[in-house]
Amino acid sequence: MENVDNLIAEIDGFKAESAEDLESYRLRFISKKGVVGALFQGLKDVPNDQKKEVGQKFNAVKQKAEEKFQELITELKQRTTSEAKAPVDLTLPPTGIPLGSIHPLRAARNRIIEIFARMGFNVADGPEVEDDWHNFTALNFPENHPAREMQDTFFVKKNPDVVLRTHTSNVQIRLMENQKPPIRSIMPGRVYRNEAISARAHCLFHQVEGIFIDENVSFRDLKQTLYHFAKEMFGQDTQIRFRPSYFPFTEPSAEMDISCGLNSPGECELCGGAKNICKGTGWVEILGCGMVDPNVLENCGIDSEKYTGFAFGMGIERIAQLKYNVSDIRLYFENDVRFLNQFRTE
Ligand code: PHE
Repeated sequence: MENVDNLIAEIDGFKAESAEDLESYRLRFISKKGVVGALFQGLKDVPNDQKKEVGQKFNAVKQKAEEKFQELITELKQRTTSEAKAPVDLTLPPTGIPLGSIHPLRAARNRIIEIFARMGFNVADGPEVEDDWHNFTALNFPENHPAREMQDTFFVKKNPDVVLRTHTSNVQIRLMENQKPPIRSIMPGRVYRNEAISARAHCLFHQVEGIFIDENVSFRDLKQTLYHFAKEMFGQDTQIRFRPSYFPFTEPSAEMDISCGLNSPGECELCGGAKNICKGTGWVEILGCGMVDPNVLENCGIDSEKYTGFAFGMGIERIAQLKYNVSDIRLYFENDVRFLNQFRTE
């Protein structure tokens, strides 16, 4: 009986400040497993002659607990609605709208376009879902030739093949088919390759390719154009070197490296001394290039006796990695604001 009086006092004094308080009240006093429930459990041990009196008392506690519960509910409801209706202080200064920043890939792409635009290159665009002719055959990839395996391809449809373009070279073909030289264009865009995703490779990435077709275009023009690009992009001290390479659509073909230690090769300025990008060689590859193969010109109806040209292609992720010191290509696609915030310019 003493317990019962204590319980009544506890119920009377209970205050619910929040929904959590209300719930703990419910568990303690209303739920069958709570303290009031336990009282009724104990009723069977009460001697018969006292059962009536004790039972009435217990019922009174139960009723009190339920009435109080309803009271707490209405009180809490009133409080939350009056809080929501609190007057807005219009004199407070605004909190400001959080501003986004330019994505590093977009920034690198803009810079590449800017540099080539100053040399007279315009920007061309083309489809990402492409037929076999524009992605492969016109680019001098013979059918069943192992060179097709250089690029792991996503097929949308087989026979006739429709693919997700593996490079933006398809736009070169479309330009040459539809325009007369001189042609001087770059083509930035998304490309797709069926590769395992890792810190260095992704199944979706971005390229900027370029092409220049005119009379008397030579390897010298190619070198000078790309040399100028590298210096503008990575600084005036950047050195370049060409290594012989192979692409079906260019002959001769080369890959271009830039110096890692910008002032003296071997010092790894790009790697920050860590040699993790240049692997200690002092040079990092940034693009593929070459003189457009006469077969490709003829495939597009351009007289290869009269015209020559050069082409090049680079990965924007790679350029941005070197420019901004990004260690893992996957960071570009995760949209983690902790990564993106570092590219704020304001
Ligand atoms: N298309 C090549 C690639 O995706 C790049 C390239 C373009 C090479 C033009 C030479 C000339 O790897």
